Amino acid sequence: MINDLWYKNAVIYCLSVGTYMDANGDGIGDFQGLMRRLDYLHGLGVTAIWLMPFQTSPCRDDGYDIADYYNVDPRYGTLGDFIEFTHGAKQRGIRVLIDLVVNHTSDQHPWFKQARSDPNSKYRNWYVWSKKKPSHSNEGMVFPGVQKTTWNYDREAKAWYFHRFYDFQPDLNTSNPEVQAEILKIMGFWIQAGVSGFRMDAVPFIISTKGPGVRKPNEQFDMLRVFREFLQWRQGDCIVLAEANVLPETDMDYFGKDGQRMHMMFNFQVNQHLFYALAAADIRPLIKALKATKARPATAQWGIFLRNHDELDLGRLQEKQRQTVFKAFGPDEHMQLYDRGIRRRLAPMLGGDQRRLELAYSLMFTLPGTPVIRYGDELGMGDDLTLPERACARTAMQWSNEPHGGFTKNEKPHTPVIDKGPYGYQHINAAIQRRHADSMLNWTERIIRMRKEVPEIGWGDFTVLNVRDPAVLALRYDWRNNSVLFLHNLHEQPREILMDPSMNKAEGKLLVNLLAEDHSRANESGKHRIVLEGYGYRWYRVGGLDYLLRRAEIDQGDTDAD
Ligand code: NOJ
Repeated sequence: MINDLWYKNAVIYCLSVGTYMDANGDGIGDFQGLMRRLDYLHGLGVTAIWLMPFQTSPCRDDGYDIADYYNVDPRYGTLGDFIEFTHGAKQRGIRVLIDLVVNHTSDQHPWFKQARSDPNSKYRNWYVWSKKKPSHSNEGMVFPGVQKTTWNYDREAKAWYFHRFYDFQPDLNTSNPEVQAEILKIMGFWIQAGVSGFRMDAVPFIISTKGPGVRKPNEQFDMLRVFREFLQWRQGDCIVLAEANVLPETDMDYFGKDGQRMHMMFNFQVNQHLFYALAAADIRPLIKALKATKARPATAQWGIFLRNHDELDLGRLQEKQRQTVFKAFGPDEHMQLYDRGIRRRLAPMLGGDQRRLELAYSLMFTLPGTPVIRYGDELGMGDDLTLPERACARTAMQWSNEPHGGFTKNEKPHTPVIDKGPYGYQHINAAIQRRHADSMLNWTERIIRMRKEVPEIGWGDFTVLNVRDPAVLALRYDWRNNSVLFLHNLHEQPREILMDPSMNKAEGKLLVNLLAEDHSRANESGKHRIVLEGYGYRWYRVGGLDYLLRRAEIDQGDTDAD
Protein backbone atom coordinates (compact mmCIF):
# COMPACT_ATOMS: atom_id res chain seq x y z
CA MET A 1 0.00 0.00 0.00
CA ILE A 2 2.66 2.51 1.05
CA ASN A 3 4.80 1.82 -1.96
CA ASP A 4 1.83 1.67 -4.28
CA LEU A 5 0.71 5.21 -3.51
CA TRP A 6 4.11 6.54 -4.50
CA TYR A 7 2.84 10.08 -4.98
CA LYS A 8 1.99 10.48 -1.29
CA ASN A 9 5.68 11.08 -0.63
CA ALA A 10 7.33 11.82 -3.95
CA VAL A 11 9.79 14.59 -4.76
CA ILE A 12 8.64 16.06 -8.07
CA TYR A 13 10.95 18.16 -10.26
CA CYS A 14 9.40 20.19 -13.03
CA LEU A 15 11.26 21.18 -16.19
CA SER A 16 10.74 22.08 -19.79
CA VAL A 17 12.78 20.09 -22.27
CA GLY A 18 13.51 23.13 -24.42
CA THR A 19 15.31 25.03 -21.67
CA TYR A 20 17.09 22.18 -19.91
CA MET A 21 19.95 20.82 -21.99
CA ASP A 22 20.75 21.04 -25.68
CA ALA A 23 22.60 17.97 -26.99
CA ASN A 24 22.54 18.58 -30.75
CA GLY A 25 23.77 22.17 -30.59
CA ASP A 26 20.81 23.80 -32.34
CA GLY A 27 20.25 26.14 -29.42
CA ILE A 28 17.13 24.37 -28.12
CA GLY A 29 17.05 21.84 -25.29
CA ASP A 30 16.12 18.32 -26.33
CA PHE A 31 15.38 14.83 -25.02
CA GLN A 32 18.90 13.66 -25.72
CA GLY A 33 20.22 16.49 -23.58
CA LEU A 34 17.75 15.71 -20.84
CA MET A 35 18.87 12.09 -20.90
CA ARG A 36 22.41 13.20 -20.23
CA ARG A 37 21.18 14.97 -17.15
CA LEU A 38 19.25 12.05 -15.67
CA ASP A 39 22.13 11.18 -13.37
CA TYR A 40 22.20 14.75 -12.09
CA LEU A 41 18.51 14.45 -11.25
CA HIS A 42 19.01 11.03 -9.74
CA GLY A 43 21.83 12.44 -7.62
CA LEU A 44 19.63 15.29 -6.47
CA GLY A 45 17.21 12.65 -5.28
CA VAL A 46 14.08 13.55 -7.19
CA THR A 47 11.65 10.68 -7.62
CA ALA A 48 9.50 12.09 -10.42
CA ILE A 49 9.98 14.51 -13.28
CA TRP A 50 7.08 16.59 -14.54
CA LEU A 51 7.66 17.64 -18.14
CA MET A 52 5.96 20.71 -19.45
CA PRO A 53 4.36 20.30 -22.90
CA PHE A 54 6.71 18.95 -25.56
CA GLN A 55 4.20 17.81 -28.21
CA THR A 56 4.06 19.37 -31.67
CA SER A 57 3.14 23.00 -31.26
CA PRO A 58 3.53 26.44 -32.83
CA CYS A 59 4.73 27.33 -29.34
CA ARG A 60 2.93 30.62 -28.97
CA ASP A 61 2.23 29.78 -25.31
CA ASP A 62 5.34 27.75 -24.60
CA GLY A 63 3.78 24.54 -25.89
CA TYR A 64 0.45 24.97 -24.09
CA ASP A 65 -0.98 25.26 -27.61
CA ILE A 66 -0.76 21.75 -29.00
CA ALA A 67 -1.14 20.90 -32.68
CA ASP A 68 -0.59 17.14 -32.43
CA TYR A 69 -1.13 15.24 -29.19
CA TYR A 70 0.51 12.08 -30.45
CA ASN A 71 3.95 13.37 -31.32
CA VAL A 72 7.06 15.02 -29.99
CA ASP A 73 7.81 18.42 -31.45
CA PRO A 74 10.80 17.88 -33.78
CA ARG A 75 12.73 20.66 -32.04
CA TYR A 76 12.97 18.41 -28.95
CA GLY A 77 13.63 15.11 -30.73
CA THR A 78 11.53 12.16 -31.77
CA LEU A 79 9.08 9.78 -30.16
CA GLY A 80 11.94 7.32 -30.10
CA ASP A 81 13.97 9.76 -28.01
CA PHE A 82 11.04 10.15 -25.66
CA ILE A 83 10.81 6.40 -25.13
CA GLU A 84 14.57 6.23 -24.50
CA PHE A 85 14.13 9.00 -21.97
CA THR A 86 11.30 7.30 -20.04
CA HIS A 87 13.33 4.10 -20.11
CA GLY A 88 16.40 5.89 -18.72
CA ALA A 89 14.30 7.53 -16.02
CA LYS A 90 12.75 4.21 -15.07
CA GLN A 91 16.16 2.60 -14.76
CA ARG A 92 17.02 5.23 -12.16
CA GLY A 93 13.75 4.81 -10.30
CA ILE A 94 12.43 8.15 -11.52
CA ARG A 95 8.85 8.41 -12.71
CA VAL A 96 7.73 10.70 -15.51
CA LEU A 97 4.64 12.89 -15.41
CA ILE A 98 3.67 14.95 -18.42
CA ASP A 99 1.46 17.93 -18.93
CA LEU A 100 -1.95 17.09 -20.34
CA VAL A 101 -3.30 20.19 -22.06
CA VAL A 102 -6.78 19.29 -23.21
CA ASN A 103 -8.92 22.27 -22.33
CA HIS A 104 -7.89 23.75 -25.65
CA THR A 105 -5.79 23.05 -28.72
CA SER A 106 -3.69 25.29 -30.90
CA ASP A 107 -5.64 27.00 -33.68
CA GLN A 108 -3.17 25.19 -35.92
CA HIS A 109 -4.41 21.78 -34.83
CA PRO A 110 -5.92 19.88 -37.82
CA TRP A 111 -9.11 19.39 -35.77
CA PHE A 112 -9.62 23.14 -35.52
CA LYS A 113 -8.61 23.72 -39.12
CA GLN A 114 -11.27 21.26 -40.27
CA ALA A 115 -13.79 22.60 -37.77
CA ARG A 116 -13.46 26.16 -39.01
CA SER A 117 -13.38 25.34 -42.73
CA ASP A 118 -16.23 22.82 -42.88
CA PRO A 119 -19.47 23.23 -40.91
CA ASN A 120 -20.28 19.60 -41.64
CA SER A 121 -16.98 18.27 -40.37
CA LYS A 122 -17.26 16.06 -37.31
CA TYR A 123 -14.70 18.35 -35.70
CA ARG A 124 -17.02 21.35 -35.84
CA ASN A 125 -18.68 20.17 -32.65
CA TRP A 126 -15.30 19.54 -31.00
CA TYR A 127 -15.05 23.28 -30.39
CA VAL A 128 -17.42 25.87 -28.96
CA TRP A 129 -19.17 28.17 -31.44
CA SER A 130 -21.72 30.94 -31.56
CA LYS A 131 -23.46 32.46 -34.55
CA LYS A 132 -23.66 35.84 -32.83
CA LYS A 133 -21.21 37.61 -30.60
CA PRO A 134 -22.13 36.50 -27.05
CA SER A 135 -23.06 39.40 -24.81
CA HIS A 136 -20.57 38.32 -22.13
CA SER A 137 -17.63 37.97 -24.50
CA ASN A 138 -15.52 40.39 -22.49
CA GLU A 139 -15.77 38.31 -19.30
CA GLY A 140 -13.82 35.38 -17.85
CA MET A 141 -10.37 36.08 -19.33
CA VAL A 142 -7.52 34.24 -17.65
CA PHE A 143 -4.92 36.65 -18.99
CA PRO A 144 -6.44 40.10 -18.49
CA GLY A 145 -4.16 42.74 -19.92
CA VAL A 146 -2.99 40.61 -22.84
CA GLN A 147 -6.36 39.04 -23.61
CA LYS A 148 -9.33 41.28 -24.30
CA THR A 149 -12.07 38.78 -24.91
CA THR A 150 -13.05 35.12 -24.59
CA TRP A 151 -14.87 34.98 -27.92
CA ASN A 152 -13.31 35.76 -31.31
CA TYR A 153 -14.83 35.91 -34.74
CA ASP A 154 -13.44 33.40 -37.21
CA ARG A 155 -13.86 34.54 -40.78
CA GLU A 156 -13.48 31.11 -42.27
CA ALA A 157 -16.12 29.59 -40.01
CA LYS A 158 -18.23 32.73 -40.14
CA ALA A 159 -18.87 32.21 -36.44
CA TRP A 160 -17.50 33.13 -33.04
CA TYR A 161 -15.39 30.62 -31.12
CA PHE A 162 -14.73 30.42 -27.41
CA HIS A 163 -11.23 30.58 -25.92
CA ARG A 164 -10.69 30.73 -22.19
CA PHE A 165 -7.02 31.59 -22.75
CA TYR A 166 -5.32 33.29 -25.73
CA ASP A 167 -7.25 33.61 -28.99
CA PHE A 168 -4.93 31.07 -30.65
CA GLN A 169 -6.08 28.47 -28.08
CA PRO A 170 -9.67 27.57 -29.03
CA ASP A 171 -11.43 25.66 -26.26
CA LEU A 172 -12.34 22.07 -26.91
CA ASN A 173 -15.99 21.23 -26.37
CA THR A 174 -15.13 18.94 -23.49
CA SER A 175 -18.78 18.02 -22.89
CA ASN A 176 -18.80 16.25 -26.24
CA PRO A 177 -18.41 12.47 -25.60
CA GLU A 178 -16.19 12.19 -28.69
CA VAL A 179 -13.79 14.76 -27.23
CA GLN A 180 -13.85 12.95 -23.90
CA ALA A 181 -13.03 9.68 -25.62
CA GLU A 182 -10.14 11.39 -27.41
CA ILE A 183 -8.77 12.68 -24.10
CA LEU A 184 -8.70 9.11 -22.79
CA LYS A 185 -6.99 7.98 -25.98
CA ILE A 186 -4.30 10.62 -25.51
CA MET A 187 -3.74 9.45 -21.93
CA GLY A 188 -3.60 5.84 -23.04
CA PHE A 189 -1.03 6.67 -25.70
CA TRP A 190 1.41 8.32 -23.29
CA ILE A 191 0.90 5.67 -20.62
CA GLN A 192 1.99 3.16 -23.24
CA ALA A 193 5.04 5.36 -23.84
CA GLY A 194 6.09 5.00 -20.23
CA VAL A 195 4.59 7.84 -18.20
CA SER A 196 3.23 7.47 -14.67
CA GLY A 197 0.69 10.23 -14.93
CA PHE A 198 -0.34 13.68 -15.94
CA ARG A 199 -0.30 17.20 -14.67
CA MET A 200 -3.69 18.15 -15.99
CA ASP A 201 -3.78 21.74 -17.19
CA ALA A 202 -6.70 24.03 -16.38
CA VAL A 203 -8.94 21.37 -14.83
CA PRO A 204 -11.79 23.67 -13.70
CA PHE A 205 -12.19 24.84 -17.29
CA ILE A 206 -12.06 21.33 -18.76
CA ILE A 207 -15.01 20.27 -16.64
CA SER A 208 -16.97 23.51 -17.10
CA THR A 209 -20.00 23.73 -19.27
CA LYS A 210 -19.16 26.02 -22.20
CA GLY A 211 -21.23 27.81 -24.79
CA PRO A 212 -22.71 31.15 -25.81
CA GLY A 213 -25.62 30.69 -23.42
CA VAL A 214 -23.41 29.77 -20.46
CA ARG A 215 -22.98 32.73 -18.17
CA LYS A 216 -22.27 30.85 -14.98
CA PRO A 217 -20.60 27.58 -15.94
CA ASN A 218 -21.30 24.37 -14.04
CA GLU A 219 -18.51 22.01 -13.19
CA GLN A 220 -19.14 18.45 -14.36
CA PHE A 221 -17.15 16.71 -11.66
CA ASP A 222 -18.04 13.22 -12.78
CA MET A 223 -15.69 13.67 -15.74
CA LEU A 224 -12.84 13.50 -13.24
CA ARG A 225 -13.94 10.08 -12.05
CA VAL A 226 -14.05 8.86 -15.63
CA PHE A 227 -10.46 10.05 -16.23
CA ARG A 228 -9.26 8.35 -13.07
CA GLU A 229 -11.05 5.09 -13.71
CA PHE A 230 -9.56 4.91 -17.15
CA LEU A 231 -6.05 5.44 -15.79
CA GLN A 232 -6.52 2.83 -13.12
CA TRP A 233 -7.67 0.28 -15.67
CA ARG A 234 -4.77 0.95 -17.95
CA GLN A 235 -2.07 1.23 -15.31
CA GLY A 236 -2.79 1.14 -11.60
CA ASP A 237 0.02 3.45 -10.47
CA CYS A 238 -0.81 6.27 -12.88
CA ILE A 239 -1.98 9.53 -11.39
CA VAL A 240 -3.46 12.90 -12.25
CA LEU A 241 -2.05 16.00 -10.62
CA ALA A 242 -4.64 18.69 -11.17
CA GLU A 243 -3.94 22.33 -11.82
CA ALA A 244 -7.06 23.75 -10.19
CA ASN A 245 -6.74 27.06 -8.43
CA VAL A 246 -10.06 26.76 -6.62
CA LEU A 247 -11.51 27.67 -3.24
CA PRO A 248 -11.01 25.20 -0.37
CA GLU A 249 -14.78 24.60 -0.26
CA THR A 250 -14.60 22.79 -3.59
CA ASP A 251 -11.41 20.79 -2.97
CA MET A 252 -13.33 17.67 -2.06
CA ASP A 253 -15.33 17.92 -5.27
CA TYR A 254 -12.04 17.60 -7.13
CA PHE A 255 -10.54 14.86 -4.97
CA GLY A 256 -13.89 13.08 -4.71
CA LYS A 257 -15.24 12.32 -1.23
CA ASP A 258 -14.02 8.72 -1.36
CA GLY A 259 -10.93 9.68 -3.32
CA GLN A 260 -12.36 8.52 -6.62
CA ARG A 261 -11.40 11.64 -8.64
CA MET A 262 -8.06 13.52 -8.76
CA HIS A 263 -5.09 11.85 -7.03
CA MET A 264 -3.31 15.15 -6.48
CA MET A 265 -3.94 18.87 -6.68
CA PHE A 266 -1.58 21.80 -6.36
CA ASN A 267 -2.28 23.63 -3.13
CA PHE A 268 -2.65 27.20 -4.40
CA GLN A 269 -4.34 28.28 -1.18
CA VAL A 270 -1.29 27.34 0.88
CA ASN A 271 1.09 28.67 -1.78
CA GLN A 272 -0.29 32.20 -1.69
CA HIS A 273 -0.56 32.36 2.09
CA LEU A 274 2.95 30.97 2.38
CA PHE A 275 4.24 33.92 0.38
CA TYR A 276 2.30 36.25 2.63
CA ALA A 277 3.84 34.52 5.67
CA LEU A 278 7.32 34.97 4.19
CA ALA A 279 6.63 38.61 3.38
CA ALA A 280 5.07 39.60 6.69
CA ALA A 281 6.68 37.09 9.11
CA ASP A 282 3.11 36.28 10.08
CA ILE A 283 2.02 32.67 9.90
CA ARG A 284 -1.58 33.12 11.06
CA PRO A 285 -3.22 33.29 7.61
CA LEU A 286 -1.03 30.37 6.50
CA ILE A 287 -2.32 28.30 9.42
CA LYS A 288 -5.86 29.11 8.30
CA ALA A 289 -5.01 27.97 4.77
CA LEU A 290 -3.46 24.76 6.11
CA LYS A 291 -6.53 24.03 8.17
CA ALA A 292 -8.89 24.93 5.32
CA THR A 293 -7.14 22.42 3.05
CA LYS A 294 -6.50 19.76 5.68
CA ALA A 295 -9.31 17.46 4.67
CA ARG A 296 -8.40 15.14 1.86
CA PRO A 297 -9.15 11.50 1.13
CA ALA A 298 -6.56 9.07 2.48
CA THR A 299 -5.39 8.22 -1.02
CA ALA A 300 -5.16 11.84 -2.21
CA GLN A 301 -2.28 14.26 -1.88
CA TRP A 302 -1.47 17.94 -2.19
CA GLY A 303 1.31 19.21 -4.42
CA ILE A 304 3.23 21.80 -2.40
CA PHE A 305 5.20 24.31 -4.42
CA LEU A 306 6.80 27.72 -4.16
CA ARG A 307 7.14 29.00 -7.70
CA ASN A 308 6.13 27.52 -11.01
CA HIS A 309 6.39 28.56 -14.65
CA ASP A 310 3.48 30.97 -14.32
CA GLU A 311 3.30 34.14 -12.28
CA LEU A 312 2.87 33.96 -8.52
CA ASP A 313 -0.89 34.39 -8.38
CA LEU A 314 -2.03 36.38 -5.34
CA GLY A 315 -5.73 36.37 -6.11
CA ARG A 316 -6.72 34.44 -2.99
CA LEU A 317 -5.22 36.97 -0.57
CA GLN A 318 -7.04 39.87 1.00
CA GLU A 319 -6.18 43.23 -0.55
CA LYS A 320 -3.95 44.28 2.35
CA GLN A 321 -2.13 40.97 2.36
CA ARG A 322 -1.66 41.15 -1.40
CA GLN A 323 -0.14 44.61 -1.12
CA THR A 324 2.24 43.35 1.58
CA VAL A 325 3.47 40.60 -0.75
CA PHE A 326 3.80 42.97 -3.72
CA LYS A 327 5.74 45.41 -1.58
CA ALA A 328 8.10 42.76 -0.25
CA PHE A 329 8.69 40.64 -3.34
CA GLY A 330 7.61 42.58 -6.42
CA PRO A 331 7.52 46.30 -5.67
CA ASP A 332 8.26 47.52 -9.19
CA GLU A 333 5.74 47.39 -11.96
CA HIS A 334 8.03 45.40 -14.24
CA MET A 335 8.18 42.61 -11.63
CA GLN A 336 4.42 42.27 -11.71
CA LEU A 337 2.11 40.82 -14.27
CA TYR A 338 -0.70 43.33 -14.60
CA ASP A 339 -2.68 42.91 -11.41
CA ARG A 340 -2.39 39.13 -11.58
CA GLY A 341 0.71 38.56 -9.56
CA ILE A 342 4.50 38.54 -9.49
CA ARG A 343 6.48 37.07 -12.36
CA ARG A 344 9.86 36.66 -10.67
CA ARG A 345 11.76 33.58 -9.65
CA LEU A 346 12.10 32.74 -5.97
CA ALA A 347 15.77 33.63 -5.39
CA PRO A 348 15.56 37.29 -6.49
CA MET A 349 12.30 37.67 -4.59
CA LEU A 350 14.11 36.63 -1.43
CA GLY A 351 17.05 38.90 -2.18
CA GLY A 352 19.32 35.95 -2.98
CA ASP A 353 19.62 35.33 0.78
CA GLN A 354 20.44 31.65 1.20
CA ARG A 355 19.14 31.58 4.78
CA ARG A 356 15.78 32.72 3.51
CA LEU A 357 15.82 30.38 0.55
CA GLU A 358 16.56 27.44 2.83
CA LEU A 359 13.74 28.52 5.12
CA ALA A 360 11.31 28.73 2.19
CA TYR A 361 12.40 25.35 0.85
CA SER A 362 12.38 23.76 4.28
CA LEU A 363 8.77 24.89 4.55
CA MET A 364 7.96 23.53 1.11
CA PHE A 365 9.44 20.16 2.04
CA THR A 366 7.60 19.92 5.34
CA LEU A 367 4.14 21.34 4.67
CA PRO A 368 1.48 18.65 4.24
CA GLY A 369 1.89 17.18 0.78
CA THR A 370 4.40 16.25 -1.88
CA PRO A 371 7.00 18.89 -2.80
CA VAL A 372 7.22 20.11 -6.40
CA ILE A 373 10.50 21.84 -7.26
CA ARG A 374 11.06 23.98 -10.31
CA TYR A 375 14.24 23.39 -12.31
CA GLY A 376 17.02 25.79 -11.40
CA ASP A 377 15.55 26.61 -8.01
CA GLU A 378 17.94 24.05 -6.53
CA LEU A 379 20.67 26.49 -7.60
CA GLY A 380 18.83 29.68 -6.67
CA MET A 381 18.57 30.72 -10.32
CA GLY A 382 17.30 34.22 -11.09
CA ASP A 383 15.12 35.81 -13.74
CA ASP A 384 15.55 38.16 -16.67
CA LEU A 385 12.97 40.90 -16.33
CA THR A 386 13.78 42.30 -19.76
CA LEU A 387 11.95 39.31 -21.24
CA PRO A 388 8.21 39.63 -21.75
CA GLU A 389 5.56 38.33 -19.38
CA ARG A 390 6.23 34.90 -17.89
CA ALA A 391 9.25 34.28 -20.14
CA CYS A 392 11.41 36.10 -17.59
CA ALA A 393 11.38 33.07 -15.28
CA ARG A 394 11.78 30.46 -18.02
CA THR A 395 15.42 31.02 -18.95
CA ALA A 396 17.80 28.15 -19.70
CA MET A 397 19.28 25.93 -17.00
CA GLN A 398 22.71 27.07 -15.80
CA TRP A 399 25.00 24.06 -15.77
CA SER A 400 28.50 25.52 -15.69
CA ASN A 401 30.53 28.64 -16.43
CA GLU A 402 31.14 27.59 -20.01
CA PRO A 403 29.57 29.88 -22.65
CA HIS A 404 25.78 30.01 -22.31
CA GLY A 405 26.03 28.28 -18.97
CA GLY A 406 26.86 24.97 -20.67
CA PHE A 407 23.23 24.78 -21.81
CA THR A 408 24.13 24.77 -25.50
CA LYS A 409 27.13 24.89 -27.80
CA ASN A 410 25.17 27.07 -30.19
CA GLU A 411 26.19 30.69 -30.37
CA LYS A 412 22.61 31.90 -30.36
CA PRO A 413 20.55 29.91 -27.89
CA HIS A 414 16.87 29.99 -28.66
CA THR A 415 16.11 30.54 -24.96
CA PRO A 416 18.31 33.17 -23.38
CA VAL A 417 20.68 32.22 -20.61
CA ILE A 418 21.11 34.77 -17.83
CA ASP A 419 24.63 36.11 -18.34
CA LYS A 420 24.69 39.34 -16.36
CA GLY A 421 24.51 40.39 -12.75
CA PRO A 422 24.60 38.27 -9.62
CA TYR A 423 22.34 35.60 -11.13
CA GLY A 424 24.42 35.21 -14.29
CA TYR A 425 25.61 31.70 -15.11
CA GLN A 426 29.16 32.77 -14.30
CA HIS A 427 28.13 32.85 -10.62
CA ILE A 428 25.14 30.57 -10.34
CA ASN A 429 25.65 27.18 -11.93
CA ALA A 430 25.53 23.50 -11.04
CA ALA A 431 29.24 22.82 -11.60
CA ILE A 432 30.40 25.44 -9.11
CA GLN A 433 27.79 24.55 -6.56
CA ARG A 434 28.61 20.88 -6.72
CA ARG A 435 32.04 21.71 -5.31
CA HIS A 436 30.81 23.68 -2.31
CA ALA A 437 29.41 21.69 0.57
CA ASP A 438 27.09 24.48 1.68
CA SER A 439 25.84 25.50 -1.73
CA MET A 440 22.13 25.64 -2.45
CA LEU A 441 22.51 22.57 -4.64
CA ASN A 442 24.14 20.44 -1.96
CA TRP A 443 21.75 21.73 0.66
CA THR A 444 18.82 20.73 -1.57
CA GLU A 445 20.30 17.28 -2.08
CA ARG A 446 20.66 16.80 1.69
CA ILE A 447 17.19 18.07 2.49
CA ILE A 448 15.65 15.79 -0.14
CA ARG A 449 17.48 12.84 1.36
CA MET A 450 16.09 13.66 4.79
CA ARG A 451 12.61 14.38 3.41
CA LYS A 452 12.52 10.85 2.06
CA GLU A 453 13.25 9.53 5.54
CA VAL A 454 10.27 11.34 7.00
CA PRO A 455 7.27 9.59 5.45
CA GLU A 456 5.15 10.96 8.29
CA ILE A 457 4.72 14.18 6.30
CA GLY A 458 3.02 12.49 3.39
CA TRP A 459 1.05 9.93 5.36
CA GLY A 460 0.47 11.47 8.74
CA ASP A 461 -1.96 13.95 10.22
CA PHE A 462 -0.61 17.32 11.14
CA THR A 463 -1.24 19.45 14.19
CA VAL A 464 -0.26 23.09 14.48
CA LEU A 465 1.27 23.59 17.92
CA ASN A 466 0.78 26.88 19.65
CA VAL A 467 4.13 28.51 20.38
CA ARG A 468 2.63 31.95 21.01
CA ASP A 469 4.68 33.67 18.37
CA PRO A 470 3.12 34.66 15.02
CA ALA A 471 6.52 34.40 13.36
CA VAL A 472 7.11 30.76 14.28
CA LEU A 473 5.33 27.83 12.70
CA ALA A 474 5.41 24.58 14.69
CA LEU A 475 3.97 21.62 12.82
CA ARG A 476 3.81 18.15 14.23
CA TYR A 477 2.98 15.01 12.24
CA ASP A 478 1.89 11.69 13.69
CA TRP A 479 1.82 8.44 11.83
CA ARG A 480 2.15 4.84 12.95
CA ASN A 481 3.30 5.78 16.43
CA ASN A 482 6.02 8.00 15.07
CA SER A 483 6.06 11.75 15.40
CA VAL A 484 8.06 14.53 13.84
CA LEU A 485 8.12 18.21 14.58
CA PHE A 486 9.13 21.09 12.34
CA LEU A 487 9.86 24.60 13.53
CA HIS A 488 10.26 27.57 11.21
CA ASN A 489 11.07 31.10 12.21
CA LEU A 490 9.92 33.44 9.45
CA HIS A 491 11.35 36.48 11.16
CA GLU A 492 14.79 37.84 10.38
CA GLN A 493 15.46 38.18 14.13
CA PRO A 494 16.12 35.20 16.41
CA ARG A 495 13.12 33.92 18.36
CA GLU A 496 13.04 31.99 21.57
CA ILE A 497 10.13 29.68 22.07
CA LEU A 498 8.95 27.61 24.97
CA MET A 499 6.90 24.63 23.96
CA ASP A 500 5.52 21.29 24.95
CA PRO A 501 5.42 19.15 21.82
CA SER A 502 4.22 16.02 23.61
CA MET A 503 0.49 16.69 23.19
CA ASN A 504 -0.13 15.22 26.65
CA LYS A 505 1.63 11.99 25.86
CA ALA A 506 4.58 10.56 27.71
CA GLU A 507 6.97 11.13 24.79
CA GLY A 508 8.44 14.45 23.89
CA LYS A 509 11.18 14.66 26.48
CA LEU A 510 13.80 14.51 23.78
CA LEU A 511 13.63 16.13 20.36
CA VAL A 512 16.19 14.56 18.08
CA ASN A 513 17.45 17.08 15.55
CA LEU A 514 17.48 15.38 12.14
CA LEU A 515 19.77 17.92 10.49
CA ALA A 516 22.34 18.75 13.17
CA GLU A 517 23.61 17.63 16.55
CA ASP A 518 21.79 20.05 18.81
CA HIS A 519 18.99 17.86 20.15
CA SER A 520 16.62 19.41 22.61
CA ARG A 521 15.77 18.10 26.03
CA ALA A 522 12.67 19.14 27.95
CA ASN A 523 13.02 20.96 31.25
CA GLU A 524 11.46 19.62 34.44
CA SER A 525 8.01 20.79 33.52
CA GLY A 526 8.22 19.02 30.18
CA LYS A 527 8.82 22.16 28.12
CA HIS A 528 11.49 22.81 25.52
CA ARG A 529 13.19 26.15 25.31
CA ILE A 530 14.47 26.54 21.77
CA VAL A 531 16.24 29.48 20.22
CA LEU A 532 15.75 29.73 16.50
CA GLU A 533 18.13 32.02 14.69
CA GLY A 534 16.69 34.56 12.21
CA TYR A 535 15.03 32.53 9.39
CA GLY A 536 16.02 29.41 11.33
CA TYR A 537 14.34 26.03 11.03
CA ARG A 538 14.52 22.70 12.86
CA TRP A 539 13.51 19.19 11.87
CA TYR A 540 13.00 17.01 14.97
CA ARG A 541 11.92 13.47 15.64
CA VAL A 542 9.75 13.55 18.74
CA GLY A 543 10.62 11.14 21.52
CA GLY A 544 13.54 9.77 19.65
CA LEU A 545 14.89 6.33 19.94
CA ASP A 546 15.77 4.94 23.33
CA TYR A 547 19.40 4.72 22.50
CA LEU A 548 19.49 8.39 21.59
CA LEU A 549 17.93 9.24 24.91
CA ARG A 550 20.51 7.14 26.69
CA ARG A 551 23.22 8.61 24.50
CA ALA A 552 22.08 12.10 25.41
CA GLU A 553 22.22 11.18 29.09
CA ILE A 554 25.71 9.77 28.68
CA ASP A 555 26.78 12.93 26.84
CA GLN A 556 25.22 15.02 29.55
CA GLY A 557 27.09 12.97 32.14
CA ASP A 558 30.30 13.65 30.24
CA THR A 559 29.57 17.36 30.19
CA ASP A 560 28.71 17.40 33.89
CA ALA A 561 31.93 15.57 34.64
CA ASP A 562 34.02 18.04 32.61
C1 NOJ B 1 -1.97 26.95 -17.35
C2 NOJ B 1 -0.52 26.87 -17.62
O1 NOJ B 1 0.18 26.68 -16.41
C3 NOJ B 1 -0.12 28.14 -18.33
O2 NOJ B 1 1.26 28.24 -18.46
C4 NOJ B 1 -0.82 28.17 -19.67
O3 NOJ B 1 -0.55 29.39 -20.31
C5 NOJ B 1 -2.33 28.02 -19.49
N1 NOJ B 1 -2.69 26.97 -18.60
C6 NOJ B 1 -2.97 27.73 -20.81
O4 NOJ B 1 -2.71 26.40 -21.18
